Amino acid sequence: MRGSSSLQTAMASKIVLTLLVLAAASSAALAAFDVIQMLADKPKYTAFSKLLQQTKVADEANQLRAASLLVVPDKLAKGLEALPADKLRPAIANHVLVSYFDPIKLDEMKTRTALLPTLLSNTDKKLGVVNYTRADDGQMYFGAPGAPCAAKLIKVVAARPYSVSIMEVSEPILPAGLSLVVAPGRRGKGKVKPSTAGLEESKKPTAMAAEAREKASVASSPASS
Ligand SMILES: *[C@@H]1O[C@H](CO)[C@@H](O)[C@H](O)[C@H]1NC(C)=O
Repeated sequence: MRGSSSLQTAMASKIVLTLLVLAAASSAALAAFDVIQMLADKPKYTAFSKLLQQTKVADEANQLRAASLLVVPDKLAKGLEALPADKLRPAIANHVLVSYFDPIKLDEMKTRTALLPTLLSNTDKKLGVVNYTRADDGQMYFGAPGAPCAAKLIKVVAARPYSVSIMEVSEPILPAGLSLVVAPGRRGKGKVKPSTAGLEESKKPTAMAAEAREKASVASSPASS
């Protein structure tokens, strides 16, 4: 009965193969996300959401296997909105990291500073990174490489570990060589500012992440439809 047992083996491996293919397909489907939909019920980020759509950066982000978006609330998006179209796309793309990060994951990194690839890394390896740095007090900052890290991580807006996260930062992060017209009187050198005036109460970044993960595990549903 050698023949039939090898037939059985062949059938069994065919079944295993089919299961593997199905598993791969469904995990690909699960990884799908829609960043605009994730921002849809967050009116505070309407302007940034519009910019993501207008520049088609949202479409590019949705194609990624994993992504982390750094967003600013409407009152801080004015400078971005004023950028000419050719500068707007790179500026918005600079806010999309091509891996999943949340404060816990950032905190777990061995180094306190790292250059994290953005969507721009597809076209420019050197320009396509943001500098992430954790300060002595544990607060997390982002900035263009070579420029001071001035955009402080404020909170997790939405997250679906470990495929996509959206985090609020305290100011836009522009690629090196691009700058916004800054209102007079605010033309600081962009140092890491200790002042948290005007910001929401600063929770520990890891606490925010734990909270966001909890929410995500309850609310998480694959982008259906
Ligand atoms: C990243 O930012 C930190 C803090 O501002 C700075 O010390 C470091 O030199 C920066 N790294 C790069 C590559 O720009």
